[in-house]
Amino acid sequence: MSRTVRIGLLGCGTVGGGLVTLLAEQHGQILERHGVDLELSRVLVRNPDKKRKGVEPALITTRSADILASGCDIVVELIGGVDDAVRLVGAALDADRSVVTANKALLAAHGVAVFAKAKARGLHVGFEASVCGGVPVIRALRVGLAGDSVESLSGILNGTCNYILTLMEEGQSFENARARAQELGFAEAEPSLDVDGHDALQKLTILSELAFGGIPVSEVSLAGIRDVTPADIRRARSRGQVIRHVAAANADDGTLRLSLRPELLAASHPLAAVRYENNGLVIRARAAGELTFLGRGAGALPTASAVLADIIDIAQAA
Ligand SMILES: NC(=O)c1ccc[n+]([C@@H]2O[C@H](COP(=O)([O-])OP(=O)(O)OC[C@H]3O[C@@H](n4cnc5c(N)ncnc54)[C@H](OP(=O)(O)O)[C@@H]3O)[C@@H](O)[C@H]2O)c1
Repeated sequence: MSRTVRIGLLGCGTVGGGLVTLLAEQHGQILERHGVDLELSRVLVRNPDKKRKGVEPALITTRSADILASGCDIVVELIGGVDDAVRLVGAALDADRSVVTANKALLAAHGVAVFAKAKARGLHVGFEASVCGGVPVIRALRVGLAGDSVESLSGILNGTCNYILTLMEEGQSFENARARAQELGFAEAEPSLDVDGHDALQKLTILSELAFGGIPVSEVSLAGIRDVTPADIRRARSRGQVIRHVAAANADDGTLRLSLRPELLAASHPLAAVRYENNGLVIRARAAGELTFLGRGAGALPTASAVLADIIDIAQAA
């Protein structure tokens, strides 16, 4: 027997547009395999005149109150930013709607309060898409390794930094590579979030909370990729190495050290193979050993795939 689950969508840009496409493509399979008939109830945007492929114009609104008034069962937040996002997510939870979000900035700033409110009301907050786009690392930590103890994490968590470093390996300038990442839709609108490491720190904080929740952070060292020069990259290559922006968390002696910086990696290192906008994460767990995840960390469809997985999970749990 199938059940209709209605989605109130906040934002229909890169990821929201990807979600609309994927919902249409996967609708039949999701119904057959998971027994849920997913449909959009309303779509919030800023500019109502923009063409939105695959969205009935009647569903578009610029009034946030229309989303809850549409009778949606789940609210999906894909507007980005912090202030409006936290207000709208808070309103959804207050109205007893579970939420799915891809917004690491929201979670970094208000995650504790958002999760506490959801828990108190018996609701869910899905956030798989907030780290590593289409690579299901949140599920791996939350569910797959629930019975294990994670000892360390190290990863390439910012696709834009990795894209820039890869294009610099191919001889392009830093600025050209950054502009290209922006054109392709996976760079943050504010460049310093990517290239100075803040976006990767937000993601590492989310992963660390899942992996080591409760262990106090004793040290954070943060450096971005602005100082990496073409000469550094050529020197690394002549030694059989590559430069990658590596985010790492290590739990030793009851404290947690976070470090984000450009590192020289041997060509045989699992993260050295991560190129362009891809992401990678190596998890070392006491019982499971070393696990490596590689894949597309940004972009419309990979990110929408993670959002849709959360929607299906919540729809099935309801
Ligand atoms: N892009 C990626 O590859 C990627 C990967 C992982 C996670 N994420 C996260 O996913 C979220 C969305 O990113 P995106 O790249 O899809 O952003 P985007 O392309 O800029 O789209 C944002 C959408 O939200 C709407 N919007 C923004 N502020 C609004 C407001 N205050 N009220 C109503 N509508 C508003 C915009 O409306 P208009 O269309 O009318 O302007 C647009 O449709 C962010 O949290 C981002 O960090 C993105």
